[in-house]
Amino acid sequence: MSVRYIESKKTFLLQTKNSTYQMKVSDYGYLLHLYYGERLIDEDLSYLIQLKDRGFSPNPNEAGHDRTFSLDFLPQEFSSDGSCDYRLSSIEVKNGDGSYAFVGKVAKHEIYAGKYSLAGLPSLWATEKDQVDTLEIWLKDSTTQLTVVLCYSVFEEKDIITRAVKVRNDSGDTIYLNRIMSMTMDFMDSDYDFIHFDGRHTMEREWSRNPLAYGIQNVGSFRGASSHQHNPFTILCERGASEDDGRCYGFSFVYSGNFMCKVEKDQYDQARIVMGIHPKHFSYQLKPGERFTAPEVVLAYSGEGLTHLTHLYHRVYRENLCKSPYVKKERPILINSWEAAYFDFDEAKLLKIAKEAVDMGVELFVLDDGWFGNRNDDNAALGDWDVNTAKLPSGLQGLSENIHAMGLQFGLWIEPEMVSENSALYRKHPDWCLQMPRRQPSRGRYQLVLDLSREDVRDYLVTSINAVLDSTRIEYVKWDMNRFITDAWSAIAEKEKQGEIYHRYILGLYDIMNRIILTHPKILFCGCSGGGGRFDPGMLYYQPQIWCSDNTDAVCRLRIQYGTAFVYPVFAMESHVSVCPNHQTGRTVPLATRGVTAMGGILGYELDSTKLSEEEKRICREQVAAYKRDYPLIAYGDYYRLTNPYTFSEYVAWEHVSPDQKEALISLVLTEKEANDAQRFIKAKGLNPRTQYRVEGMKGSLSGQALMSAGLPVPGNLLQYEAVQYHIKAL
Ligand code: GLA
Repeated sequence: MSVRYIESKKTFLLQTKNSTYQMKVSDYGYLLHLYYGERLIDEDLSYLIQLKDRGFSPNPNEAGHDRTFSLDFLPQEFSSDGSCDYRLSSIEVKNGDGSYAFVGKVAKHEIYAGKYSLAGLPSLWATEKDQVDTLEIWLKDSTTQLTVVLCYSVFEEKDIITRAVKVRNDSGDTIYLNRIMSMTMDFMDSDYDFIHFDGRHTMEREWSRNPLAYGIQNVGSFRGASSHQHNPFTILCERGASEDDGRCYGFSFVYSGNFMCKVEKDQYDQARIVMGIHPKHFSYQLKPGERFTAPEVVLAYSGEGLTHLTHLYHRVYRENLCKSPYVKKERPILINSWEAAYFDFDEAKLLKIAKEAVDMGVELFVLDDGWFGNRNDDNAALGDWDVNTAKLPSGLQGLSENIHAMGLQFGLWIEPEMVSENSALYRKHPDWCLQMPRRQPSRGRYQLVLDLSREDVRDYLVTSINAVLDSTRIEYVKWDMNRFITDAWSAIAEKEKQGEIYHRYILGLYDIMNRIILTHPKILFCGCSGGGGRFDPGMLYYQPQIWCSDNTDAVCRLRIQYGTAFVYPVFAMESHVSVCPNHQTGRTVPLATRGVTAMGGILGYELDSTKLSEEEKRICREQVAAYKRDYPLIAYGDYYRLTNPYTFSEYVAWEHVSPDQKEALISLVLTEKEANDAQRFIKAKGLNPRTQYRVEGMKGSLSGQALMSAGLPVPGNLLQYEAVQYHIKAL
C-alpha cells in the first residue's frame, strides 16, 4: 500500500514512485508535517521537529510549563485557528458561542484502497490501471465537536497526491465556516521561487517567477470564476531550479470559482503555502449534523526540474480528469464564425464561409454568437435560446442539414449562465439574476448573471439548452461566460446563507454541466470565458478543450500557450488561425507562422474563408494535413519548452516527443529579428541519446545525443515572425 501508519513512531507515510510525504502525530495530538520531496525508504523523519523556547510564540495550555512547544513555528498539516499560530490559517470558524476558534487534534484515521469522492465537485478519478490508496485523518476540536477530515489520495505510479478537506459539524450549534483551505503545506526552509500565471482579458497566464520574500505573497480570484487575472496553479521551486534540474512543487486547484493561494515566509525562514476557496465574502452556515466539502488540490513533486513537473500534470490530467470521450479522440479541424462575421450574418453568408472552408480541409463549422432571439449585438437576448429565424429562416435544423450536406460537422455557441435585460427571460423572471436588495446590479458586457444557486433557474437552463442540443445534429458546443460575478446575493436564500452564494453558484454550474454536458457524450464541448477566463481543472473535467484566449495574434499566443501548457495538456488548448492584420493587435504575421503557433494546441480557423486566395487556401490545406499527421505526437506526446519567452526574446521554441522517443517535432517562431544576427542552434530534448534520427530536409542522420547536445541550426535567412519546424524521426 502506498499509505501507511507507523504506530510506533506515530507517523503517516505516503509513498509515490518518486516522492515521499510524511506527517506525525505530535505530543498532545497535533498533526505535524514532516516532509514532502524525493522518495525516501521508510525513514522516520521525526528528528526534524526541533523544539525551542521562542519568545512571543505562545504554548498550548496542555503543554503545561513546557515553553518549547508552540504551534507558531512547528510545521503543520492543517493550521488551527485562534490558538498559538499567527501564520496563515487553514480555517476560520465562528462557533455557536461567538468564539473564533478551531483546535483540531488527531481523533482517528482511515486507510482504504481507491480514491475519495467529493460530492458535487469535479476531482481526479482512478482508472482501472491506477493503484490509488487513500488516507483520511480526522482532526477534532474536543470543545466544539467540529471535525475536519483531511483527505489524501495517492496515485502511486503517477507521482501525484491529491488533497481535499471535509468539515463535519457534530456540535449542537450552528456554526459559520468563514475560511477553509483545501491544502496547507509547511516547509522548514524558504529558499524558493514562487511561480504563478497572471494576466488580463486577451493576455492570459503570463509566467511570473519571484523569490519568496518575508511576508505574504498572494494570487487569487474574487471574480466568481478562476479568471484571466490569475490561474489556480502555482509552483514553489528551489531558487536555482531550471527546466531540467531542481526540486519543484506544483499546486493545482480543481475549482472554477473564487480561489486563493498565499505563501508566507515567516520569521524563522520557514514557508507555508495555502490554497482554497477565496475567503472574501465566504461564510458557510453549518447547522448541527451538516457537512461541507472543500475542492481538491492536485500536488506533484519533481526532483528533476520544471519540465518533469509539467509532464506529471499533463499525464494525470490526460488520463484521470476529463470525462469526455474526446480526450482520446482526434479533434475535428473547425472554422468558427466569430472573427469572420461577428453578429453580421445570415444563412447564405454562413453557408458560403462553410463551403470555402471545405476547400481548406476544415471538418467542422461552428456558428458562434448571434443565432438566437433578437441577438444582433451584445446588448440583447441572452437567456432566449430560440433560433432567430430572420437570420436563419430554415432554423438550426435546416442550417445544420445544409452544413452536413457539405460533409462538415456542425457546432454552436451558447452562454447559458447569463441573461440580457433586453430578453424575454429577464422580463419574465427579473429575480433570476444575482442582484442585491435595494441596489441596481452592475452590468458587464450589458449582461447580468443568472443565479445558478437556484434550482428553478438551473432546471430552466437544463431544459432549454438540452432542447437546443437535441433539436438537430450538433457535434460541438462552445460554452461561454462573458462577464464575471458581482452582486452575489440570491433572492431566495436566507440572509444567513448569502455568504455561500459564490460557492453555490459554482456547485450549480457543475450541476448543470453534469446534466447538459455529461448527458451528451457525443458532443465535443469547448469551454470559454472571454477566451481563457476560466481555464482550470474544474472546467477540464467537463470540457476536453478550452478557448485559450480572445487574442488570436500568433505572437501573443506564444506566451499565452507557454503559460497555459505549464500545467494543462496541449490537447486542452484550442488555438485558431485568424486573419491579418490581427483584429486584436493589428500585427501581420505570415499565414504559415499562424499555423505553426495554432498547431501548438488544437488547431482551428477563425476567419472569413471567402476572402482567402487560392494560394492561402492551399497553405491551410497543407497545415491541416500536417496537423492531422502529427496529431498523436502533438496531443499525446511529451511537451518540452525549449525557450522561455520571458527571459529570451529572439525566438520561441517548443517540442513534442512521442512517448516511445521515435519521433519529435520542434517548432520555432522568430519573434525579434536583428540585422546580421548571431547563428543560433536549437537543442532538442527528450530524445534517446543512442538512437539515430533523420531530420526532415537534412541529409544523413544524427544521434539523439548530437541533437540534444549540439543542436540544429536556426536558419539564418529566417525573417521577423517567420517560423520553422523540424520533424525528427528515428531511423
Ligand atoms: C467571447 C468569446 C469569443 C466569442 C464572443 C461572442 O468573447 O471568447 O470567442 O465567442 O464571446 O460573443
